[in-house]
Amino acid sequence: MHSIPSSTQLLSKQQKGEAGDYQRFWVKRIEQLGDCPTPFLLSDISIAGRQIHLFRSLLSRISLFYAIKANPSPMIISSIDHLIDGYDVASVAEIELLLGLGMDSSRISYNNPVKSRESITRAAELGVKRFVFQSREEAEKIAQCAIGAEVLVRVKMQDSKDAQSFSSKFGCPPEDAAQLLKYAKKIGLKPLGVTFHVGSQATELQAWRNAINKAQLIVTEVRKSGVDIRIINMGGGIPVQYSNDDPSLYELAKVINDAIDEGPSDIDYIAEPGRFLTADSSVIVTTVIGREDRDGVPWLYLDIGIFQAFMEVFEFGRFFYPVFSLRHAKNASGRAAQKSFVLTGPTCDSCDTMAKGVLLPSDIREGDKLVVCKSGAYTTVYGSNFNGFEIPRVKVVGVVDV
Ligand SMILES: Cc1ncc(COP(=O)(O)O)c(C=O)c1O
Repeated sequence: MHSIPSSTQLLSKQQKGEAGDYQRFWVKRIEQLGDCPTPFLLSDISIAGRQIHLFRSLLSRISLFYAIKANPSPMIISSIDHLIDGYDVASVAEIELLLGLGMDSSRISYNNPVKSRESITRAAELGVKRFVFQSREEAEKIAQCAIGAEVLVRVKMQDSKDAQSFSSKFGCPPEDAAQLLKYAKKIGLKPLGVTFHVGSQATELQAWRNAINKAQLIVTEVRKSGVDIRIINMGGGIPVQYSNDDPSLYELAKVINDAIDEGPSDIDYIAEPGRFLTADSSVIVTTVIGREDRDGVPWLYLDIGIFQAFMEVFEFGRFFYPVFSLRHAKNASGRAAQKSFVLTGPTCDSCDTMAKGVLLPSDIREGDKLVVCKSGAYTTVYGSNFNGFEIPRVKVVGVVDV
């Protein structure tokens, strides 16, 4: 069982007076929906578009694939499709979703490093040509089920500190990558390059630099052995600024661009962010169903909890979403006296408690609506109906600038 995260970062912008515009932006959109039952997730796709434009302007040498696992909302995918180069998928269901939306299979990379034979066969039948592997065994499965497929080898790199780690489960040791790519070629596959993932919400900039440099060394080594690979796919992991402690894309882009400059000039780079494209685009609106004092500490029982949307609290051990009160934001009384609250969910489990130390106006009461910000990634997609509670409905507004 996790310990309830304390959350100094929840103080974020709203305590610094910069919050007014941000809150007004969302209050307006929430009001436009009328009287909607909570909980619901409201996405404004213009923000996903803005994130893509930011990526394009700061990381212009990197192709952009969207990891749809973060938020597979068909409305979001269809709206941003013309702005991105392709998609990272984890399963056949994700491939089918994209094809159903009219996407071309040539833009889909099946990057789950270990797949069933049935999934590989089906993906190949659906026209997917690019796969990821991390072992001889997986290379053999791909060679048999998707004859002549293009492959990248997933390499285990040092995770960014505090990120959700992937290295315990994924990636071959860097020193095995060259042999694996040579083997892939020998058994009829087309080796294209190297991929890695330094962890989701990877805020440690040096981890990015080290991983890119190591991947460049692998490319050089493989090329010397006569296998002409050209791609480094740096995975997802671009962090969201849940708080001012998290680095901005400006800071990360400087590090990534410097690292790219340090390697051979003829490498094609790909990134496949999920969280970065969609977290900022949404808020979750939830209602306080009860306020109680427990041992002198005020608790807010919400109509949404860990099981319906905030599963990442289990993964990260913290609740990183800034929260504000809709009533107070509407009345421009955001500077009302504050109190520190515990936020818990509606189920009969105590582990459904998301956060303690969340500063909110002290007179929050039953029936108030709270707005959980930056919650568009890895929330509703994790949702379960545990205890009979509904996963938030999804509402989408906004248009993407071309
Ligand atoms: C292979 C791969 N690529 C990209 C992503 C997206 O990562 P993030 O949402 O941290 O950007 C993931 C996340 O699980 C992944 O497994």
